[in-house]
Amino acid sequence: MQLRNRIMLPPHGRLVGDPFGSDAAAARHAAYWERRSRSGAAWICGLNVFIDNQVVIPGFEPSGLGATERGPARRPGFGARVRRYVDAVHAGGAVASAQLILQGGMPHSPSGLLANHADNQVPHVLDAREIAHLVAEYGHTAAELAATGLDGIELHANHEDLLQLFLSPATNHRDDAYGGSFEARLSLVAEILEVVRANAPACTVGLRLNADELFEGGYDLEGGIRIATALEARGLVDYVHCVVGNNWGDPSYVQTHHHRPAAWSWMAARYREALAVPVIYSGRVDDPGVAATIVDQGHADVVGMARAMFADGDLVEKAASGRLHEIRPCIGTNDCLHRVVVEGLRFGCSVNPAAGREQDGPLPSVEAPARLLVVGAGPAGLELAALAAERGHEVEIWEREPEIGGQVRVAARAPENARYADYLAYQHRRLTDLGVRLRLGAPATRASVLAAGHDVVAVATGARPRRPAVPGVELPHVVEGRAVLLGEARVHGRVVVLAMEDHMQPLTIAGFLASQGNDVTLVYATRTVGALVGKYSIGAPLAKLSAAGGEVEVLHRAVAILPDAVHLQHVYSGRPRTLEGVDGVVLACGGVAESTLYHELRDADVDVHVLGDAYAPRRISFATRQAYELAARL
Ligand SMILES: Cc1cc2nc3c(=O)[nH]c(=O)nc-3n(C[C@H](O)[C@H](O)[C@H](O)COP(=O)(O)O)c2cc1C
Ligand code: SF4
Repeated sequence: MQLRNRIMLPPHGRLVGDPFGSDAAAARHAAYWERRSRSGAAWICGLNVFIDNQVVIPGFEPSGLGATERGPARRPGFGARVRRYVDAVHAGGAVASAQLILQGGMPHSPSGLLANHADNQVPHVLDAREIAHLVAEYGHTAAELAATGLDGIELHANHEDLLQLFLSPATNHRDDAYGGSFEARLSLVAEILEVVRANAPACTVGLRLNADELFEGGYDLEGGIRIATALEARGLVDYVHCVVGNNWGDPSYVQTHHHRPAAWSWMAARYREALAVPVIYSGRVDDPGVAATIVDQGHADVVGMARAMFADGDLVEKAASGRLHEIRPCIGTNDCLHRVVVEGLRFGCSVNPAAGREQDGPLPSVEAPARLLVVGAGPAGLELAALAAERGHEVEIWEREPEIGGQVRVAARAPENARYADYLAYQHRRLTDLGVRLRLGAPATRASVLAAGHDVVAVATGARPRRPAVPGVELPHVVEGRAVLLGEARVHGRVVVLAMEDHMQPLTIAGFLASQGNDVTLVYATRTVGALVGKYSIGAPLAKLSAAGGEVEVLHRAVAILPDAVHLQHVYSGRPRTLEGVDGVVLACGGVAESTLYHELRDADVDVHVLGDAYAPRRISFATRQAYELAARL
């Protein structure tokens, strides 16, 4: 394939719309990629094609990622749907490839094992006949794909795909032709590559490989390079795509902001030294400067960027034209994944509410601009102000604090959240460029809002800290987590963090305190830690907390705080427990909607709206999506 530059978009868009689902979903999927192709990306590997998985017995219900029984290549209309994707990518000038996926584990595996401490389901062990069936399915799928004009095919041998489970000594304990020696562990992938190449001779064929499994008993960097060089020596791969991470731990394969950008690109460099074919690196390349450094350092021939493209579909064009400061940064929340896979919500990106709505185009300009006052410059207010101004409204935003950002500004104080500050700086520049008037340190009252005389008022005043009704909560050594992050309150020594929020707040605060040398115990009444933090993100904060000596207690609620102790009770049995020798207690209890102003304005003669945490405290993606919906209606 001839590439116009070195930027590849690895798979990530299926959550925007299933290319083999409803017509509307397929159209959303195609529009997503077309927009990014038109922006100037060289190579889009945006089509996930699951392998037909009908080696299960009748009545067995596969679960988990990749548990599709009927592979799309066996469904009617497959070719037309693939062509729609290919045409969309080609229309923008990029080359188009697809990834063949057979996410293993549930139900299949080489030996009934998963390299996964967070999942105890035991998978079915494939026999030789079942393996032969699956190899044939890869061949069939490749042939169907090749007939569509697709440029390339990538095998998904990473992220606990069945192929990785066969390659790995941790999960492949077979003693037949598919296991027992290095060569035997390689044989399934080699057979599949052979059949794919034979059936799709015009396609570029590559392998996405976990560069180093980073798991006890798994293959290491040398082992991964040995796999890649052996396949190259047999003429089976045109490129190798290096990634790091797994489905559940730390690092996850969708690395959060706890890891520095491109932290493992040096591994790709080792592959590049050993191989003649091109090497791609993907993994938290969240900025064109990072991508350029990878290429300049010779770590990879091509750089993959996924989430950065959710955050800004025009990234390539902006980078190419030197408008780097206009790029909306991905802040690594992983809500793009977790909203869908944890909560079953629609796809959405924290910082870019227009992601996934490419078909609709930008919000239209208004014919009759209104005078809009946004009260509160947190994520909801900032996004609303910018979108409304982009539509042509005359916008003013008031913020009671001396700085913009709301809770994002507070969270940005934790070192791992530095990208949050970049996002706020981006929003600030955006508002300035749009001519939005920003008044900082300006508390709003009913009287001041009405005196200002705007046509529309949007109240995005955020949330105040929630305080649990626990005896002793008023003691002087009990402080708010927000105040700790801002440096307004200090605790030292043995610290109990009381968690009453299901996302990142308690983990961020506990990690912050533990890394300062405190002896931290994080206490949840829920049965799990960070119930809404999905598996792709939970490993990193827990690893950080544990490495700093922090402890976690679940299923316990605080029933009394004493000057030097916290009394807990098991939430089900009521059995008491006491944490002794406590020097400080920190509340990480989320927020309560700060909606007083909204209620005060409801009976006034003004068009008033409420959004963000002021309606109900949620995450950034909720706030920015509400901003989008309101801006679309103004
Ligand atoms: C929503 C989403 C879906 C993804 N789906 C796939 C997939 O189907 N196959 C795959 O190999 N990687 C998949 N990934 C991983 C990305 O391709 C990429 O390796 C990962 O996000 C790290 O790169 P980034 O930091 O540039 O986002 C997905 C990532 C996201 C965020
Ligand atoms: S949801 Fe978060 S991680 Fe995903 S692309 Fe948007 S900012 Fe990045």
